[in-house]
Amino acid sequence: KIIKVICIILYYKIQKQLKIRFFVIYIQVHLNKLECRGKQQSCLSPGLQNVGAIHFFCNYEESRGNYLVDVDGNRMLDVYTQISSIPIGYNHPALMKVMTNPNNVSAFVNRPALGILPPENFPDKLIESLLSIAPSGMTRVQTMACGSCSNENAFKTMFIWYRNKERGYANPSEQEVGTCMINQSPGCPDLSILSFMGAFHGRTLGCLATTHSKVIHKLDIPSFDWPIAPFPKLQYPLEEFVRENAQEEARCLEEVEDLIVKWRQKGKPVAGIVIEPIQAEGGDNHASPDFFIKLRNIARKHGCAFHVDEVQTGGGTTGKFWAHEHWGLDDPADVVSFSKKLLTGGYYHRDELQPDKPYRIFNTWMGDPSKNLFLSEVLNVIRRENLLEEVTRSGKALLQGLYALQTQYPHILSRARGQGTFCAIDACNDATRDSIMIKARNKGLFMGSCGEKTIRFRPTLVFKEYHVHQLLNILNDVLAEHK
Ligand SMILES: Cc1ncc(COP(=O)(O)O)c(C=O)c1O
Repeated sequence: KIIKVICIILYYKIQKQLKIRFFVIYIQVHLNKLECRGKQQSCLSPGLQNVGAIHFFCNYEESRGNYLVDVDGNRMLDVYTQISSIPIGYNHPALMKVMTNPNNVSAFVNRPALGILPPENFPDKLIESLLSIAPSGMTRVQTMACGSCSNENAFKTMFIWYRNKERGYANPSEQEVGTCMINQSPGCPDLSILSFMGAFHGRTLGCLATTHSKVIHKLDIPSFDWPIAPFPKLQYPLEEFVRENAQEEARCLEEVEDLIVKWRQKGKPVAGIVIEPIQAEGGDNHASPDFFIKLRNIARKHGCAFHVDEVQTGGGTTGKFWAHEHWGLDDPADVVSFSKKLLTGGYYHRDELQPDKPYRIFNTWMGDPSKNLFLSEVLNVIRRENLLEEVTRSGKALLQGLYALQTQYPHILSRARGQGTFCAIDACNDATRDSIMIKARNKGLFMGSCGEKTIRFRPTLVFKEYHVHQLLNILNDVLAEHK
């Protein structure tokens, strides 16, 4: 602080001397950074960015595999992995090789406007990466920059498909052309997307109308009058409450059909239904394959597109590459969106949903070809090292360990649940959850939260059984000390 005061005095005295001015700014920023460390609310120079959510600064050069290193050199077992977006660990040698391969340099240096000027090898690279893992029934893929813009454009795709169907694939009328420029119907039709309470599909304006997980995301933002169905509130472990859970799911499905009918009567027909295989940000809420199969049938019956948002669940973390593969759908989804562990955003869709004209789905940056290079290599590693089996193995150990902890500490923990390593457990309240997470972090375990009082586990695909034991040991120590 003394140095800061001296610097400020110097600053005003010798304001005209440019070199000293820059020196003072440098010192101020660094003093602020030092004060920030360890505090929840960051106090970095307010001109830089909105930084209130920063947890801590990281040293990515030193981070390796499942371990994240902070600026002070503390090494943590990371089971949050940049909000579930690191597929095979930090600084994986296979990815470093992609980076240093001279043949790839041009892809890193020249980011194209992909929709108009793609690189020569782009189709081959898509076949090698995204199309090699396309979910069943999905013949086309559209890359995008992030999860939200993938969903946003997937919604647009469903609306375009729905209207083309309605007008019998004829050209739009003069009235439609005239009204669309002034945000009026029929050019801008009153269509809707049905979503579920507790869902998270992103924070952009369209997506936000389907996001219902936390007030902080939604407050003050205008939204659409679109139907919101209840998501089943199940009891865990699922195997022990089959009858009760089936009743709850039936109640929610009935409500879905009622809402579709009601919104049609209101003049705002449902063009698409969007759902996460496991509601993640909303608190790791599961539903049974039977629920999803019936929901898919409802969508077909009412002529709505069925959109599965795999932004958080996709990429292998549930033990299958796509979480919805666990359902065994006869009739595949119409749209599947992805991002995070896939390293590029985007969505797959069926042939019928291909927009009829260019520029209907378009951005300057519709993805980034350099990310496909990394993705191809990630897929090679997943196949070579059988990482989906690894996830299933570690996931079982993790869930068993969480069951044991909730039996040992029933006053603190409950509702352990998961598929693969996509696991979660509830604390008795949010304050306890937050305190457990901070204490665990101080002992070298970095976890994430979701919902009201849930701890979520989102490790990489190279998270092995010995990492599970390390995690459980730390968590056990924290719980044993918990007052
Ligand atoms: C299921 C789901 N959909 C969409 C998104 C939005 O993705 P992004 O943050 O990349 O915009 C997220 C982000 O957490 C998500 O979990």
